[in-house]
Amino acid sequence: MRSVGFKVAMASLFAFAVLAVAWNFLIARVDPTAAPAAVAKGPSVSAGGVALTSAAIALPDATATLPDGPAGELVTQHCTACHSVEMITTQPHLAPEKWQATVEKMRAVYKAPIAPGDDPALVAALVSFQQPARVADK
Ligand code: HEC
Repeated sequence: MRSVGFKVAMASLFAFAVLAVAWNFLIARVDPTAAPAAVAKGPSVSAGGVALTSAAIALPDATATLPDGPAGELVTQHCTACHSVEMITTQPHLAPEKWQATVEKMRAVYKAPIAPGDDPALVAALVSFQQPARVADK
Protein backbone atom coordinates (compact mmCIF):
# COMPACT_ATOMS: atom_id res chain seq x y z
CA MET A 1 0.00 0.00 0.00
CA ARG A 2 1.51 3.34 -1.07
CA SER A 3 1.38 6.39 1.20
CA VAL A 4 -1.06 9.20 0.48
CA GLY A 5 1.91 11.51 -0.09
CA PHE A 6 3.26 9.22 -2.79
CA LYS A 7 -0.13 9.09 -4.51
CA VAL A 8 -0.45 12.86 -4.43
CA ALA A 9 3.06 13.23 -5.83
CA MET A 10 2.32 10.77 -8.66
CA ALA A 11 -1.01 12.46 -9.44
CA SER A 12 0.75 15.85 -9.56
CA LEU A 13 3.47 14.44 -11.80
CA PHE A 14 0.83 12.99 -14.12
CA ALA A 15 -1.10 16.27 -14.23
CA PHE A 16 2.12 18.15 -14.98
CA ALA A 17 3.00 15.73 -17.79
CA VAL A 18 -0.47 16.13 -19.34
CA LEU A 19 -0.19 19.93 -19.15
CA ALA A 20 3.33 19.85 -20.64
CA VAL A 21 2.15 17.75 -23.59
CA ALA A 22 -0.90 20.00 -24.10
CA TRP A 23 1.26 23.13 -23.95
CA ASN A 24 3.71 21.71 -26.48
CA PHE A 25 0.84 20.86 -28.77
CA LEU A 26 -0.54 24.41 -28.48
CA ILE A 27 2.71 26.22 -29.15
CA ALA A 28 3.51 23.91 -32.04
CA ARG A 29 0.47 25.39 -33.83
CA VAL A 30 2.02 28.88 -33.92
CA ASP A 31 5.16 29.16 -36.00
CA PRO A 32 6.87 32.41 -34.96
CA THR A 33 9.21 32.23 -37.94
CA ALA A 34 6.39 31.99 -40.51
CA ALA A 35 6.29 34.90 -42.95
CA PRO A 36 3.38 37.27 -42.35
CA ALA A 37 0.48 37.13 -44.80
CA ALA A 38 0.95 39.04 -48.04
CA VAL A 39 2.04 42.57 -47.18
CA ALA A 40 3.00 45.01 -49.91
CA LYS A 41 6.67 45.89 -49.52
CA GLY A 42 7.62 49.52 -50.02
CA PRO A 43 10.97 51.33 -50.00
CA SER A 44 13.50 50.38 -47.35
CA VAL A 45 16.39 52.03 -45.56
CA SER A 46 19.23 50.33 -43.77
CA ALA A 47 21.90 51.41 -41.34
CA GLY A 48 24.02 49.69 -38.75
CA GLY A 49 23.02 46.28 -40.03
CA VAL A 50 19.32 46.99 -39.55
CA ALA A 51 16.96 47.30 -42.54
CA LEU A 52 13.58 48.98 -42.20
CA THR A 53 11.05 48.36 -44.95
CA SER A 54 7.80 50.28 -45.32
CA ALA A 55 4.75 48.10 -45.52
CA ALA A 56 1.22 48.93 -46.57
CA ILE A 57 -1.82 46.95 -45.56
CA ALA A 58 -5.37 47.53 -46.74
CA LEU A 59 -7.91 47.57 -43.93
CA PRO A 60 -11.62 47.25 -44.69
CA ASP A 61 -13.64 50.46 -44.54
CA ALA A 62 -16.27 50.70 -41.83
CA THR A 63 -19.50 51.24 -43.73
CA ALA A 64 -22.33 50.62 -41.26
CA THR A 65 -23.99 53.60 -39.61
CA LEU A 66 -26.38 53.95 -36.72
CA PRO A 67 -29.82 55.46 -37.29
CA ASP A 68 -30.06 59.26 -37.00
CA GLY A 69 -31.57 60.50 -33.77
CA PRO A 70 -30.86 60.56 -30.05
CA ALA A 71 -30.38 56.76 -29.73
CA GLY A 72 -27.80 56.64 -32.50
CA GLU A 73 -26.03 59.69 -31.10
CA LEU A 74 -25.91 58.23 -27.60
CA VAL A 75 -24.32 54.97 -28.77
CA THR A 76 -21.94 56.82 -31.10
CA GLN A 77 -20.89 59.05 -28.22
CA HIS A 78 -20.38 56.25 -25.69
CA CYS A 79 -19.30 53.20 -27.69
CA THR A 80 -17.75 54.01 -31.07
CA ALA A 81 -14.62 55.63 -29.67
CA CYS A 82 -13.46 52.06 -29.04
CA HIS A 83 -15.70 49.85 -31.23
CA SER A 84 -16.90 49.95 -34.82
CA VAL A 85 -20.63 50.29 -35.46
CA GLU A 86 -20.61 46.74 -36.82
CA MET A 87 -19.11 45.44 -33.58
CA ILE A 88 -22.06 46.88 -31.67
CA THR A 89 -24.83 45.93 -34.09
CA THR A 90 -23.68 42.38 -34.81
CA GLN A 91 -23.71 41.24 -31.19
CA PRO A 92 -26.09 38.39 -30.38
CA HIS A 93 -29.54 39.57 -29.31
CA LEU A 94 -29.28 40.31 -25.60
CA ALA A 95 -31.84 41.03 -22.90
CA PRO A 96 -31.70 44.55 -21.38
CA GLU A 97 -30.04 43.20 -18.19
CA LYS A 98 -27.21 41.73 -20.29
CA TRP A 99 -26.67 45.04 -22.10
CA GLN A 100 -26.72 46.77 -18.73
CA ALA A 101 -24.01 44.38 -17.51
CA THR A 102 -21.97 45.04 -20.67
CA VAL A 103 -22.21 48.82 -20.18
CA GLU A 104 -21.14 48.41 -16.55
CA LYS A 105 -18.22 46.22 -17.62
CA MET A 106 -17.10 48.83 -20.18
CA ARG A 107 -17.17 51.46 -17.45
CA ALA A 108 -15.53 49.38 -14.68
CA VAL A 109 -13.02 47.27 -16.61
CA TYR A 110 -12.14 49.36 -19.68
CA LYS A 111 -12.68 52.78 -18.08
CA ALA A 112 -15.22 53.94 -20.67
CA PRO A 113 -16.32 57.43 -19.55
CA ILE A 114 -20.05 56.62 -19.43
CA ALA A 115 -22.11 58.51 -16.84
CA PRO A 116 -24.32 56.01 -14.95
CA GLY A 117 -27.28 58.37 -15.51
CA ASP A 118 -27.06 57.59 -19.23
CA ASP A 119 -27.44 53.83 -18.70
CA PRO A 120 -31.22 53.46 -19.13
CA ALA A 121 -31.30 55.37 -22.44
CA LEU A 122 -28.13 53.64 -23.60
CA VAL A 123 -29.50 50.18 -22.84
CA ALA A 124 -32.80 51.01 -24.58
CA ALA A 125 -30.85 52.21 -27.63
CA LEU A 126 -28.69 49.08 -27.72
CA VAL A 127 -31.75 46.85 -27.49
CA SER A 128 -33.49 48.79 -30.29
CA PHE A 129 -30.48 48.33 -32.61
CA GLN A 130 -30.85 44.57 -32.35
CA GLN A 131 -33.62 44.67 -34.94
CA PRO A 132 -31.73 44.31 -38.24
CA ALA A 133 -34.24 46.63 -39.93
CA ARG A 134 -33.13 49.49 -37.66
CA VAL A 135 -29.52 49.31 -38.84
CA ALA A 136 -29.21 51.76 -41.71
CA ASP A 137 -26.83 49.61 -43.74
CA LYS A 138 -28.97 46.49 -43.79
C1 HEC B 1 -12.72 52.87 -23.52
C2 HEC B 1 -12.96 51.97 -24.61
C3 HEC B 1 -14.29 51.27 -24.67
C4 HEC B 1 -15.54 51.87 -24.74
C5 HEC B 1 -15.88 53.35 -24.77
C6 HEC B 1 -16.49 50.78 -24.89
N1 HEC B 1 -15.85 49.58 -24.89
FE1 HEC B 1 -16.67 47.75 -25.20
N2 HEC B 1 -14.87 46.88 -24.98
C7 HEC B 1 -13.67 47.54 -24.79
C8 HEC B 1 -12.59 46.57 -24.70
C9 HEC B 1 -11.10 46.89 -24.52
C10 HEC B 1 -13.19 45.31 -24.84
C11 HEC B 1 -12.50 43.95 -24.79
C12 HEC B 1 -11.90 43.61 -26.10
C13 HEC B 1 -12.95 43.31 -27.12
O1 HEC B 1 -13.69 42.32 -26.95
O2 HEC B 1 -13.04 44.04 -28.12
C14 HEC B 1 -14.62 45.53 -25.03
C15 HEC B 1 -15.55 44.53 -25.24
C16 HEC B 1 -16.87 44.73 -25.57
C17 HEC B 1 -17.82 43.69 -25.89
C18 HEC B 1 -17.48 42.20 -26.00
C19 HEC B 1 -18.05 41.42 -24.86
C20 HEC B 1 -17.39 41.69 -23.55
O3 HEC B 1 -18.14 41.74 -22.54
O4 HEC B 1 -16.15 41.84 -23.47
C21 HEC B 1 -19.03 44.28 -26.13
C22 HEC B 1 -20.34 43.64 -26.52
C23 HEC B 1 -18.83 45.71 -25.95
N3 HEC B 1 -17.52 45.94 -25.61
C24 HEC B 1 -19.82 46.66 -26.10
C25 HEC B 1 -19.66 48.01 -25.81
C26 HEC B 1 -20.75 48.97 -25.82
C27 HEC B 1 -22.19 48.66 -26.13
C28 HEC B 1 -20.21 50.19 -25.50
C29 HEC B 1 -20.92 51.49 -25.32
C30 HEC B 1 -21.88 51.53 -24.26
C31 HEC B 1 -18.76 49.97 -25.30
N4 HEC B 1 -18.48 48.64 -25.49
C32 HEC B 1 -17.86 50.98 -25.01
C33 HEC B 1 -13.51 48.89 -24.72
C34 HEC B 1 -14.51 49.84 -24.75
